Parts: sequence; structure tokens; C-alpha cells
Amino acid sequence: MFNAEKFIEESVAKIKQEVTGKALIAFSGGVDSTVCAALVDRAIGEQLVAVHVDTGFMRKNESVNVEKLMKKMNLNYRFVDASEKFYNALKGVEDPEEKRKIIGEKFIRIFEEIAEEEKIEFLVQGTIAPDWIESGDKLRDNIKSHHNVGGLPERMKLKIVEPLRDLYKDEVRKIARALKLPVSERQPFPGPGLAIRVIGEVTPERVEIVREACDIVEKEIEAAAEKGLMELPWQYFAVLLPVKTVGVHGDRRAYGYVIAIRAVQSIDAMTCAFSKIPFDVIDRISTRITNTLKDKVNRVVYDVTNKPPGTVEWE
Ligand code: XMP
Repeated sequence: MFNAEKFIEESVAKIKQEVTGKALIAFSGGVDSTVCAALVDRAIGEQLVAVHVDTGFMRKNESVNVEKLMKKMNLNYRFVDASEKFYNALKGVEDPEEKRKIIGEKFIRIFEEIAEEEKIEFLVQGTIAPDWIESGDKLRDNIKSHHNVGGLPERMKLKIVEPLRDLYKDEVRKIARALKLPVSERQPFPGPGLAIRVIGEVTPERVEIVREACDIVEKEIEAAAEKGLMELPWQYFAVLLPVKTVGVHGDRRAYGYVIAIRAVQSIDAMTCAFSKIPFDVIDRISTRITNTLKDKVNRVVYDVTNKPPGTVEWE
């Protein structure tokens, strides 16, 4: 049985030994990076600089809330708005692996700039086991390059520290609970963010659509779970398909994108089953999405694929 208290004690001692200078943590506000920041903060305190990058691919109001969290945790932090850089770098790019690599590289270059300014030697990342297992190596096939592993450029100046490398999500949540962090039950959100929930080319218009759709999916599913109508899935979100289909509004023809809803049950992200959520809930989500995003989306589908053969995210 995984013992969170013991892990915290041993990990803090190990970080104290390993991290002998200033360190930078890539802080997304998710369970992994928040737990990691709390551990490293215990070990080296003010020597840690938490950096949140607003890529432009975060969910609704997310970056504002992440900043509040960094303040609440009393972290020494920096907030970087890099959305323009990320959008420019992804212009015309459609291939998922290329997107992931570009995003991974951009993150690192931003961290390197800050590291140089602040004379930082170490880069702390909240990488967990499924991230590097699926990113592949000499023995494993590359399923997808997680932004913090396979997305890393080959030449890097910073020394990487990954305190959660051998853990799975359920174990990281146990540590978060033991540390009383307010993010312990948050659903996972990938580092490349909404950029991999827009299939094909990423544009501000498409991201805005999927951001709104993700928000509706989250709110409706959480409300239904709260009312006891369904179990809260492990992860639930929307994906924008760059396919246009014909619809009708009143007596007017519509031609808009397709939104796919994805909701899955899992324990460790290595496998998952699609959630059998009630049709009434799907109906509410579909109606809200097509009303809110009128003229942009006129069709909503539900993803009924398990992992394997699908993965959780579509890219
Ligand atoms: P997949 O799509 O590989 O997702 O079945 C498994 C879990 O990992 C999340 N995910 C990522 N997390 N960086 C992350 O930090 C990434 O590049 C990334 N890609 C996928 C995904 O949301 C799911 O929880």
C-alpha cells in the first residue's frame, strides 16, 4: 500500500540533497505540478521559483485561478503571458506530434530565459509514470510525446528534477490530500492544453470554441454528479473536430464544426472506459453547446471508445 506520509518525508530529504541551487518549477495548477511545488517548497523554500505560463490554451478563467493558488501557497512565483508566442509557433501546424514538440520546446525556451535571468540551475517538473511510459524510449513505442517528456528539446541547459516520476495519478492524489492541497480532486488537464483538443490547426477562434464547450461539459457533468444523477467521471471534456457539417436554425441553413464529448473512467490513465453517462445529461450538454455556440457548432457527438484502442485525448 502506498504511504503518502512516508513518500513526502523521503522525497523532501532527497530533493534537499539533489537540488543544490535555485530551481524553477513549471506550475500549471494541476495536481501533479502543485504537489511537486509543495514538496520542493518544503525542501528548498525561497530558492524555488514557480512559473506559470499562460499558453493561451488554458481553460476558462484557469490562469487567473492558478495565480491565486500560487499566492495562497505563498510561493515565490512568476506569471508569463506567452499566448501570442504559442499561437504564432503553431500557425499552419496540423500534425499532433509536431504540435506537441513545438509546445514542449516553447515551454523550455521560456523557462531557460527566466533561468538565465535568475541564475537558476534546476528545472522541476511534475512528470508522472504514464507521461514517460507513453512518450516511449528505446524499448517502448511512442504513443504520444507528453509535453514534459518527448516534447523536450534534445539540447537543454537546465538539470531536470522529477520527484513524482515513479508515481501514478491515484498516488499523487493521496499526497495532495495528505498535504491538504485544494487541487487534490481536480481532473487531469494536459500540459499542451486546449491545443490538443482542437484537432488539426490551432487558431484563436477554434480554441475559443473548444474552451466554451469544455466549460459547458465540466459544469453540466459536475452539476449532474452533485445531484446524484451520475458518478463523476475521471476526466470529461470537449474536442473540436475541424469538420463542418450542415445543420438548420429555424428555417436557416447552418454550416458549422462538430464537438465531440469525451468522458472516461480510469484509475491511472493507462487504460480507461468511456463513461456511461445518462442520455439526459448528454442532451443538456448538446443543447447548451449548440445554443451558446450558435453558427459555430451545429453537431455534438459522444465518444464511446475505451483505451485501448483509443487514448484519452484525441491527439
Ligand atoms: P492519453 O491521451 O495519453 O492521456 O491517453 C492519458 C492522461 O494524460 C493526459 N495527457 C497529458 N498530460 N502532458 C500532460 O501533462 C501531456 O502532454 C499529456 N497528454 C495527455 C491526459 O489528459 C490523460 O489524463
